[in-house]
Amino acid sequence: MDKNGYTCAILTISDKGSRGERDDTSGPQLNRQLTESGFTVTALEIVPDSQDAIATMFRKWADQDNIDLIVSTGGTGVSPSDVTPEATLPILHREIPGIGEAMRMASFTRTTHAILSRGVAGIRRESLIINLPGSERAARENLEVILPSLQHALYKIKGGMKDCADCTKNNSKQKDS
Ligand code: MTE
Repeated sequence: MDKNGYTCAILTISDKGSRGERDDTSGPQLNRQLTESGFTVTALEIVPDSQDAIATMFRKWADQDNIDLIVSTGGTGVSPSDVTPEATLPILHREIPGIGEAMRMASFTRTTHAILSRGVAGIRRESLIINLPGSERAARENLEVILPSLQHALYKIKGGMKDCADCTKNNSKQKDS
């Protein structure tokens, strides 16, 4: 797959992973999928389930490193330790509810547990930030749902002026920008 010109950073959110007590397979899985889709993955980090640690990484990647796409995996569920949405929402400038809605809708056809993921998505400056659930399978399945829209989303977030109709005329589930 040709490079699409966009950079990407991946954040695994896991107490056990951050302490080295569990291998992170979700981050590397997302790395493979995003690289195969044309993104240049420039960072892959693990932090514990801490609102401060999560928000600090997101702010650094969006404000200092100007990463185009930031995806996280983990901490979206309903356990007391799951705080990814609480860390993400306050640092977003604009929310994109459709991303989470689409992932939950598609995932619900595979597992009813899909409704337990509270992941959110949105824009900070010119970065698109997306929460994915934590297991390797859930991360892969959820990313698959939204991958076809990410390039167009980034194009528009950065002020792309091309009419959306021109981007969608060949295929309603378009793969171009
Ligand atoms: N979505 C898909 N497509 N496949 C899955 O296996 N697992 C669910 C859900 N979403 C799952 C899924 C489960 S079991 C949980 S608890 C939530 O994601 C939240 O996961 P997290 O707390 O690891 O982020």
